[in-house]
Amino acid sequence: MRIMVTGGLGFIGSQMVRWLLDNEPDVDIINVDALTYAGNPANVADYADNSRYQWIHASIADRAQMEPCFADKPIDAVINFAAESHVDRSIQSGVPFVATNVLGTQILLELARTYHVPRFLHVSTDEVYGSLGPNGLFRETSPLQPNSPYAASKAAADLLVLAAARTYQQDVVITRCSNNYGPYQFPEKLIPLFVTNGIEGQPWPLYGDGRNVRDWLHVEDHVRAIWAVLNSGKSGQIYNIGGHTEKSNWEIAEDLRAILGLPASVIVPVPDRLGHDRRYAMDAQKITKELGWEPRIAWEDGIASTVAWYQQHEDWWRPLKTGAYREYYRQQYGESGTTRAPSASR
Ligand code: NAD
Ligand code: DAU
Repeated sequence: MRIMVTGGLGFIGSQMVRWLLDNEPDVDIINVDALTYAGNPANVADYADNSRYQWIHASIADRAQMEPCFADKPIDAVINFAAESHVDRSIQSGVPFVATNVLGTQILLELARTYHVPRFLHVSTDEVYGSLGPNGLFRETSPLQPNSPYAASKAAADLLVLAAARTYQQDVVITRCSNNYGPYQFPEKLIPLFVTNGIEGQPWPLYGDGRNVRDWLHVEDHVRAIWAVLNSGKSGQIYNIGGHTEKSNWEIAEDLRAILGLPASVIVPVPDRLGHDRRYAMDAQKITKELGWEPRIAWEDGIASTVAWYQQHEDWWRPLKTGAYREYYRQQYGESGTTRAPSASR
């Protein structure tokens, strides 16, 4: 089976690449990645010479670059991870988000149809559903009510994928997952940012009142779910994926403080993210009932091993916190690392 993974040099896509090469001997992978700031060949360095793996440096938003990837040899499935993925960056400018997440997805859908790719799996997110109050869960039938430019671009892509199913009977499936954590996550996201700042002796900028809630899932559980949906999901269907692990950002900070042995003063409240969604939580009964998938990695184990990974892989994350990312971080949080003004994101 020859699978095109897009965005396979990023956090979740690279976990998919490593997991498939380790666990599925009949799978060959063509990894199409544009190598944005979030893409990192080091994420798959141990597999670069594997005869079942190939990286093509191309953008999904560029049809001329993408067409040869499809024309070369038949592809059995596309798994589309490629995206601009960071909400705060989308608040600065939504343009790259529309280019990759919307236009890129449409180009992939059209090429997959032209070259008769039997199945297209689109990796979406719980953020397309918007924000929950203190109770309730997102279901696959919940309305799309995205709030950030990032979430809106993901929702637009989902609609294009569903339109392809309806209009052309294209075989598509969509997964919508909650917040992932684990190794190789770019240190702009909450957990790797706090862990690496903690190791460096830097403060933890906690947005607003810190009571926003996310539903956390280990990245390995996510890629197992994607594999189940790719193989056994029903055509045209959406599958929620969640960890049943709701935590406020304060609780995350407290858990990390306990593991790293840091004082309460490391947590520094900063002005809130614009339009900050209050709570996400997934009802993932459908994937469990239909496909038998369930999370396997408990939060306590997953977060402990994740922190240990960042402690043991300073060579991976230290170079990422210099140069262009350092400039982005200064814009977000100021010289002190804690003076983030709401206007910094406008
Ligand atoms: P990431 O930012 O770590 O990686 C994105 C990858 O896509 C990078 O390797 C980047 O180089 C590549 N890329 C960006 N633009 C591209 C383009 N035009 N063409 C080809 N490659 C391009 O993202 P992630 O956190 O691994 O997320 C992967 C997918 O999963 C995204 O679609 C995201 O919306 C979705 N998702 C993420 C989470 C999460 O918690 N991180 C949760 C649910 C869903
Ligand atoms: O829910 C799935 C989504 O999870 C994915 O679709 C996105 O691609 C992914 O980036 C993630 O989005 P979030 O906005 O939830 O993740 P982030 O790590 O940016 O923030 C998590 C929470 O922590 C959120 O409530 C904002 C808060 N936060 C974040 C940062 C970076 C802070 O309080 N301080 C910070 O410095």
